[in-house]
Amino acid sequence: MDIRGVVIVTGAGGAIGRAVALRLVSLGANILVCADLDLHAAEETAALCRENRRLINSGDFNVTAHSLDVRDEAAVDGLVNEAAKTYGRIDVLINAAGVGAADQTTIRDMSLSEWRRLDDIHNIGCFLLTRAALRVMDKQDTVAPTIAGRTPIRGAIVMLTSLGSEGAFVGMGNYITAKHAVKGMVQTAAIENAARGIRVNAVAPSYVSGPMMDKFLDAAPEVKKAMLGDLPMGRMVSPEEVADAVAFLASPASSYVNGHTLVVDGGASLALTNTPFGSRS
Ligand SMILES: NC(=O)c1ccc[n+]([C@@H]2O[C@H](COP(=O)([O-])OP(=O)(O)OC[C@H]3O[C@@H](n4cnc5c(N)ncnc54)[C@H](O)[C@@H]3O)[C@@H](O)[C@H]2O)c1
Repeated sequence: MDIRGVVIVTGAGGAIGRAVALRLVSLGANILVCADLDLHAAEETAALCRENRRLINSGDFNVTAHSLDVRDEAAVDGLVNEAAKTYGRIDVLINAAGVGAADQTTIRDMSLSEWRRLDDIHNIGCFLLTRAALRVMDKQDTVAPTIAGRTPIRGAIVMLTSLGSEGAFVGMGNYITAKHAVKGMVQTAAIENAARGIRVNAVAPSYVSGPMMDKFLDAAPEVKKAMLGDLPMGRMVSPEEVADAVAFLASPASSYVNGHTLVVDGGASLALTNTPFGSRS
């Protein structure tokens, strides 16, 4: 499995974005654009990537960190177009920016502002990045795949959805619905761009160890206990395990995988009771 060329990662300062950035760099990405609302976190990721690449001492490499709000159309277009102008092309886009639901509220009691907040970051954010990247990818030349006999490649896009895009959880309707929307975007973009040599896929992790889940679970130890009991492997998935799935979908190793959601949940979706996140009433 290898990654070549220019890669943009949003949410690059977060747990999954950082793990993905580091994994793609270890697999050979030459140029890495780390974007996050939190510039300091993106810079930390960039520094870690630089250090990792120095240690494996392999080829030309450049990494930059950028402040980006994925909800801002002009800023998204600006960053993507600037990267394309500077580096000549965009080979891979990873949409890993996101936030969790602030608290558990049924749809009946949900405020419009909280609904819009999650939709803006996940659905609109993925749309803006994906649209901007597709406009660049569509115009660039194909590159020969590193695996002989595979179709020439224009680009690959991977979005982080969630186990929530595969079903429903009580009290998180805004998050769940936004992730379902992203899944629909993945499927539509996949068939719209397949003939152009651009693949679009999603990774749907269950509960990932890291700040997003820690914040949520530290406030509710009894939920944490029940949730871990619900997971067949008895533990959450690590950001690095999610990054491996993302890297597969971004690489030519998955050349015939398109419009797919790769669930990374240790089998949890086969057995979830849906109780940890609240009652059904
Ligand atoms: N953590 C989990 O359990 C889990 C499970 C399934 C799916 N996911 C999804 O994976 C993705 C990454 O989550 P994570 O666990 O790395 O979370 P995280 O909180 O560690 O990282 C998310 C990053 O996104 C950035 N961000 C937030 N709003 C932004 C905006 N408007 N513009 C740009 N950047 C923004 C944050 O600054 C942060 O660095 C999200 O889409 C999340 O919904 C997470």
